[in-house]
Amino acid sequence: MKTLKILAALGLIAATYACTTAADKEGSTDTGSKAIDELNMGLSKTSVFDTPTPTVYTYSDAKPGYNDRLAKAWDELPPQIPHRVEEYLPIVLEDNQCTDCHDVPKYIGRPLNTDRTIKNKSPMSKDHYASEDLDDISGARFNCMQCHVPLSNAAPLVDNTYR
Ligand code: HEC
Ligand code: HEC
Repeated sequence: MKTLKILAALGLIAATYACTTAADKEGSTDTGSKAIDELNMGLSKTSVFDTPTPTVYTYSDAKPGYNDRLAKAWDELPPQIPHRVEEYLPIVLEDNQCTDCHDVPKYIGRPLNTDRTIKNKSPMSKDHYASEDLDDISGARFNCMQCHVPLSNAAPLVDNTYR
């Protein structure tokens, strides 16, 4: 019985020792040769000690009506806006200027014009309406900019080939 107790005590001491050494290793700050230098810590290849001035980028100033659709990564995505938007914002309950041009259900299903002398018509799809008769815009789709955004000319930090 006595031997058993001594063995158990020894076992406990060994287990405690193993745990402490493992914890010591985890908490170690010695990263050896894997240390990351200050230029490679983020996506921006400048030192983390610099305060770089962000590159200026702009949005399209193109008038709606004669622009091509922007490419989408997959079909169901809300398309990005190929024309200027500033003058139509903000969208408020009493005045949503986006709908002046896009709430045109009779054009649903028609392709964009390729003849540049004729202005494009770009109807919102049926999903944007509250019911099948396409009279009222769905409340969930009223704030267009929640899903649709214009494209800026900012250079991507990382190339994206996802399609
Ligand atoms: C003066 C009319 C007009 C106004 C106002 C307008 N748009 Fe457009 N929009 C168009 C036309 C026309 C197109 C088709 C592309 C083109 O020719 O510019 C278009 C294209 C789009 C597209 C891309 C559609 C696609 O199939 O790829 C989106 C999204 C869009 N507009 C959203 C908006 C939003 C959001 C607003 C409000 C901030 C807005 N538009 C205001 C006329 C307008
Ligand atoms: C909750 C997200 C959401 C909101 C809000 C929204 N849309 Fe869309 N929109 C989409 C999606 C997703 C598509 C692509 C699928 C489709 O055509 O329904 C789309 C498609 C479109 C298209 C292209 C239709 C086509 O036939 O290709 C236009 C134009 C458009 N939206 C305009 C608008 C306008 C204007 C508003 C505001 C009144 C608006 N959307 C609000 C998600 C949204």
